[in-house]
Amino acid sequence: MAAVITGLGSWLPSRVVTNEDLCANLDTTDEWITTRTGIRERRMVTGGLSTRDLAVEAGARALKSADESTVDAVVVSTTSFDRLCPAVAPEVAHLLGVDTVAAFDLTSACSGFPYGLATSAGLIAAGVARKVLLIGAEAFTTLVDPGDRNTAPIFGDGAGAVVLRAGEPDEPGALGPFDLGSDGAHADLLAIPAGGSRQRSARNGLGFDTVPTRDWYLQMAGRPLFVQAVERMTTSTRRVLDRIGWSAADVDWFVGHQANVRIVRAVAEELQLPEQRVAVNIDRVGNTLAASIPLLLNDIFDRGGLEPGQRVLLSAFGAGLSWGSTALVWPDIPIDAVS
Ligand code: COA
Repeated sequence: MAAVITGLGSWLPSRVVTNEDLCANLDTTDEWITTRTGIRERRMVTGGLSTRDLAVEAGARALKSADESTVDAVVVSTTSFDRLCPAVAPEVAHLLGVDTVAAFDLTSACSGFPYGLATSAGLIAAGVARKVLLIGAEAFTTLVDPGDRNTAPIFGDGAGAVVLRAGEPDEPGALGPFDLGSDGAHADLLAIPAGGSRQRSARNGLGFDTVPTRDWYLQMAGRPLFVQAVERMTTSTRRVLDRIGWSAADVDWFVGHQANVRIVRAVAEELQLPEQRVAVNIDRVGNTLAASIPLLLNDIFDRGGLEPGQRVLLSAFGAGLSWGSTALVWPDIPIDAVS
């Protein structure tokens, strides 16, 4: 049995923040951000919008694309929960009108979508669910210090989702072999130190918060992460290609997590994939963590580039460290424009 993609949907909040907008309050330039990352603008939540709201919008579009009104499980992959507790997925399921089904969150930062695909495929293989709605949703800019030039230009908000159903391994849309991995020795390269059980907020005897403000926000060591991202995504995608029996020449689209256009291009170069087969939307959305891959699939589709029968290689890398890749032949499904 295989897990087969039958629907895709995505959603972006309407507020566009350009590099020029950021420069007003940050010691940076449009030229630095564009040349070092490939990002020109990103979307950001505003007016009380949260991860839940983004997830519901993307989830509804994926259900419509799959022509389904219900599923057996809702999985939300996110690292920007609405609250530390409870998980956001049960509320998302409720708002989508699929109450009482299995619903849980999965946290794997930027590799959240491949991890979510593998988990959803596992639910199907185990007979727990015949249909799963997997949503990658992030309002991650709320966890980034707007005054930190190392991180503020990089991230954006958004959501993307797929519907998966039980099917046959040789059907279009069937997820191929997975390669998942992690390396916790480098856990500190990308982290939000405070908020969890290790570092809760507390008042000392003088009434001051004992947690330094910067610890509430994302801290990132960009350069070593860059090196790890290229290495891990290259090795992981090679393993998937070996297992599925494709050569690089067989790949129509490399859909790599959008953390930095230079990372995606470096992986493509290692794999000897020509530039026109490398999907890129980071210029318009930034790094949207678990939403990155479904947003990118939707983006290629919107621009008329993603066709049924094409061979797609997916890969992502992120905090943890963690990474994951898979491949599939794209199915013939109706998809709405992303926003
Ligand atoms: N504007 C202007 N200058 C900036 C800047 C900004 N927004 N951010 C950093 N700089 C400066 C640094 O202070 C540094 O200055 P120095 O040489 O005087 O110390 C210089 O630019 C180079 O910084 P560095 O961090 O080495 O730049 P880089 O070329 O590695 O690019 C990243 C930085 C973050 C874009 C890049 O390392 C990256 O994309 N890393 C991977 C990030 C990632 O994958 N994150 C998520 C995992 S999914």
